[in-house]
Amino acid sequence: MEEYSAQAIRACLESSCADWQLEFLEETDSTNTRLKEQAKAGCPGQTALCAARQTAGRGRLGRSFLSPEGGLYLSLLVRPRLHLSRCTRLTVIAAVCVTRALQSLCGLEVQIKWVNDLYVGGKKLCGILTEASPAPDGTADWAVVGIGLNIARPNLSAAPELADLVTSLEEQGCTVGRAALAAAVLREFDRCCADLAGCYPAALAEYRQRMFLTGQTVTILGDPAQLPYTVLGVDDNAALVVRAPDGTTRVLQSGEISVRAVRKR
Ligand code: BTN
Repeated sequence: MEEYSAQAIRACLESSCADWQLEFLEETDSTNTRLKEQAKAGCPGQTALCAARQTAGRGRLGRSFLSPEGGLYLSLLVRPRLHLSRCTRLTVIAAVCVTRALQSLCGLEVQIKWVNDLYVGGKKLCGILTEASPAPDGTADWAVVGIGLNIARPNLSAAPELADLVTSLEEQGCTVGRAALAAAVLREFDRCCADLAGCYPAALAEYRQRMFLTGQTVTILGDPAQLPYTVLGVDDNAALVVRAPDGTTRVLQSGEISVRAVRKR
């Protein structure tokens, strides 16, 4: 049985990420919630919290995130010198870091669904939740980037409706351990955080390349008219740029909305 602990992750990191404090819990409600509490209490940046399972995992827009044993539940606390309005950049960086880690560990080609989901074969493999709080000058006092990834095939008896929507590394034929994956993601993220401004353009270019909604027709969840928008891409802050049915261009901020691809008949 794989050892999964802070020591096991540290061993996989070898000498890298020495500035990071690593914490591990067998079970918690949500690693993002725990790390946010620590951030508010003054915990330094470069703190990573990993849990073997979560009882109240959270996703974007107030959704819950099913987090049974067998997944990667990793939250990273940073204190970036980044304006709050630019914190979606951390989601972009995290998404690209996870895709790079999966490419090197498993040779897996991952696609990105704006803004925070990673997909393989049309099914969701990983979700990212970035939460941040402003300092008086408008920069982020802290930001917590939470990554949830299905490694083992999840038992979906409690949520059978997810069976056709989600996938796992196991189902994709990739047998990487949780400690090795946590270490690989942290190593990539640490490399980017060392020079956020410098690494962002390349990360955004990779993000754009892997985005599968570009060119597709989408609707906005909650839009009563369910208008069809054509996705043109993302702008430099990773807001979604779409063409509305009347031909005008609109920029959609990730904080407020979620989009769904319109299936072709
Ligand atoms: C989403 O699918 O909308 C994002 C899901 C993010 C889940 C991760 S798991 C680790 C961290 N803790 C949480 O409660 N959420 C994030």
